Amino acid sequence: AVAATGAFAYLARAIVKKRRVDRVLKEFHDTLIVPTPKLKELCGEMLNEVQAGLRGDKSSLLMLPSMVDILPDGNEKGDVYAVDIGGTNFRVLHLRLSDERGQVAHTDLRDFTIPEEMYSCHINELFDLLAVRTVEFIRDVRRDSPSLEKPLVGFCFSFPVEQTGLASGNLIKLTKKFENAGAVGADPVLQLAEALERKGMPAHVSVLLNDAVGTFAGGRYMDEDIMLGIILGTGTNACYLEKRSNIRKGRLPDLSHSEGMLINTEWAGFVSSNLPLLEEDRTLDWHSVNVGEAVYEKMVSGLYMGEVARHILITLIERGRLLGGKVPDAMREPWSLETRFMAGMHTDNTLLLSEVSAAMYCLYGVGPWEMTYFERRQVQEVCRLVCLRSARLIAMGIAALLKQMGRDGSEGPAPRTAIVMDGGVATHYPAHKDMDPESRLL
Ligand code: GLC
Repeated sequence: AVAATGAFAYLARAIVKKRRVDRVLKEFHDTLIVPTPKLKELCGEMLNEVQAGLRGDKSSLLMLPSMVDILPDGNEKGDVYAVDIGGTNFRVLHLRLSDERGQVAHTDLRDFTIPEEMYSCHINELFDLLAVRTVEFIRDVRRDSPSLEKPLVGFCFSFPVEQTGLASGNLIKLTKKFENAGAVGADPVLQLAEALERKGMPAHVSVLLNDAVGTFAGGRYMDEDIMLGIILGTGTNACYLEKRSNIRKGRLPDLSHSEGMLINTEWAGFVSSNLPLLEEDRTLDWHSVNVGEAVYEKMVSGLYMGEVARHILITLIERGRLLGGKVPDAMREPWSLETRFMAGMHTDNTLLLSEVSAAMYCLYGVGPWEMTYFERRQVQEVCRLVCLRSARLIAMGIAALLKQMGRDGSEGPAPRTAIVMDGGVATHYPAHKDMDPESRLL
């Protein structure tokens, strides 16, 4: 009886605490959960934007033809190099595609963090750095298997490019944290090829791919039912296979021999008055390098989720609901709450939320004794809600593209449809894909 009373008291206390957390966060909660009817409305709007973009009408989705109309089927062989510049890292790879279907026999990879000053230097400097690392890497690989041939390089470039061919195009704009002069309007393939030449290794840059397109194609190499490639990392994007007859913009090559063409949607730019925006999102936008742009991306992706959580925490503190109303100086530092820390706090399942305390201490000097359990729960709930909004909005985007492809099940059972996802959030924030599994959008 004593144990039962104790358990009951414990439970009652937990419920009361949860209610308190819910009350304090109510306004954020109500917006960030994005109710299903609202998501469905947004899904319809995203679909309209997809179709307007394909027609070449005004749309917040650029819907860029990738010029990729032949997809890997797993039978490709040989040695290839790849240079991949994303949002936070760049990578150089050497792949040996094997005789066995869909198998990579050998991979060498070097990963580099992009130094902070490279976000705002002249673009040639950034390409020179890429080239130096690429040349070092290829020389090391060739030490083991010497070759005098020009290396064959595929270039994965995570920005919107108006492609004029498979290996040419013009950069439309820079996104994420990049603001390099000399980039917009230029052809990234030429810039990379010239930089490699400057660094002593002329190469044949044979293809230019957006990362979402590369993810799709890489997925197809292993699974022929891949229909959608999604990036959820520093930024976000989606790529899918569109029928030739639906693409009415741009000058396309003759596609009569193929299923259609991969479209780089650039869904980061999706905007609608129905998007569940908070005042804190507007503050974040105001401090970003691309004010007023990439509205959807700023609500869902890795560069921004932690920053949104930081702004919400500041609001809660300023309203006197947390930490005695005193915002720690370090917390005022923009971008100080990186999404990886937010993910750590979100997924802390220790009894006393000691990982939340540890993060708050390391980042903001708030000692564990300065935060009650209830306050830690509140911080955790902020992280969870920001992640939930992201997950639900990404699900909405996926649903819109499945509808566009006629694979949403509305016309009878859809054939097996596989989705491939890559990017830092997709790979390092496992809780993100487990959010809210019961919800049904389709
Ligand atoms: C940004 C870029 C897009 C890229 C995405 C993910 O949204 O505009 O091209 O695919 O980030 O890296």
